[in-house]
Amino acid sequence: MVLKVLGIESSCDETAAAVSRGEGGKREILSNAVASSMDFHARFGGVIPEIASRAHLEAFAPLVEKALSSALLSLSDLDAIAVSSGPGLAGCLAVGTSGAKGLALGSKKPLFEVNHVVAHLAASEGEFGPIPDGSVGLVVSGGHTTLFEIEKFPGRLRVAGSTLDDAAGECFDKIGRLLGLPYPAGAAIDALAKKGDPFAIKVPQGLRGQKDRLFDFSFSGVKTSVARTVEKMREEGRPIPVEDICASLAESVSEVLSRKAVAACLAFGSGVLVVGGGFSANSQLREKLKAKTEEAGIELRIPSLSLCTDNGAMVSLLGLDLLRSGASPSPMDASIDSSMPLDLSSF
Ligand code: KG4
Ligand code: ZN
Repeated sequence: MVLKVLGIESSCDETAAAVSRGEGGKREILSNAVASSMDFHARFGGVIPEIASRAHLEAFAPLVEKALSSALLSLSDLDAIAVSSGPGLAGCLAVGTSGAKGLALGSKKPLFEVNHVVAHLAASEGEFGPIPDGSVGLVVSGGHTTLFEIEKFPGRLRVAGSTLDDAAGECFDKIGRLLGLPYPAGAAIDALAKKGDPFAIKVPQGLRGQKDRLFDFSFSGVKTSVARTVEKMREEGRPIPVEDICASLAESVSEVLSRKAVAACLAFGSGVLVVGGGFSANSQLREKLKAKTEEAGIELRIPSLSLCTDNGAMVSLLGLDLLRSGASPSPMDASIDSSMPLDLSSF
């Protein structure tokens, strides 16, 4: 049976709406509309929740209309509506979930409230099809760096490891600020890193080789170490080799992420590694993951760039999975959870 789901995302600065279609093991993204309020936040060096919530409110209806019209569908053609209800910024999540509830009530369609971080894994399904049982998942974003052992997607996931402090994206954004780069700095550091020497400065790899923390990460030491190096150079009046710093930073962070992700696949006997989240747009990480998974004979499922950062397609794909698995729709009084847990025994 062909099923069509509208997905809505509003957990941070992106308002996004998309429609995906599923039939058996096939998945197709029919539309994927995104509007970002980042230009309003950039000057503050971080997302301002109140500004983001207001922007969601303005963008919501036009974006839903755009997603439906690009897919050549109307609300009545849908089988369900899915929306991120956490983790994320409370006011932002409230706009998306309230809007989605209104659409679901008005159109008498079932509503699925989904976990934003788990949706980052579902993004891969648009290009690679359903996530096989027994895969390993790696979500690397501005707020999360987490390794999942996937028994069955999306119902049975176990957190195998996560960051003890900063997320990888957060670490890049903080170092970007130190180097005077615009917020968020991930893409700029990526571009600068391509021109630098990845072994020019020493950047620690947090928890690398630590036996009792095999699948956990730590990036706060990375930030401190780079800050000290930059401070010292400034004190000595030396020019800051921004490209070399970016290259060394990218080398360190991508090495530890890819090493631990492949180690998790080997430890859990998994032949598929699924990757998602804004940081998985990083070219140094993508190269290392490709090389290490090829060497280990593991299939790498990493989405194209527009599906790495926050988008509605990943939410609609997760909604499709829930609908197909016979999961119960969310009650209309379900509330958002800005710190929604990631260990899910069932949805
Ligand atoms: O998944 P996402 O869009 O939002 C969250 O759920 O957090 O991720 C945003 C993060 C930001 O920290 C941004 O700097 C980072 O993803 N990012 C990148 C790249 N593109 C975006 N980090 C490294 N390299 C990139 N090319
Ligand atoms: Zn995200």
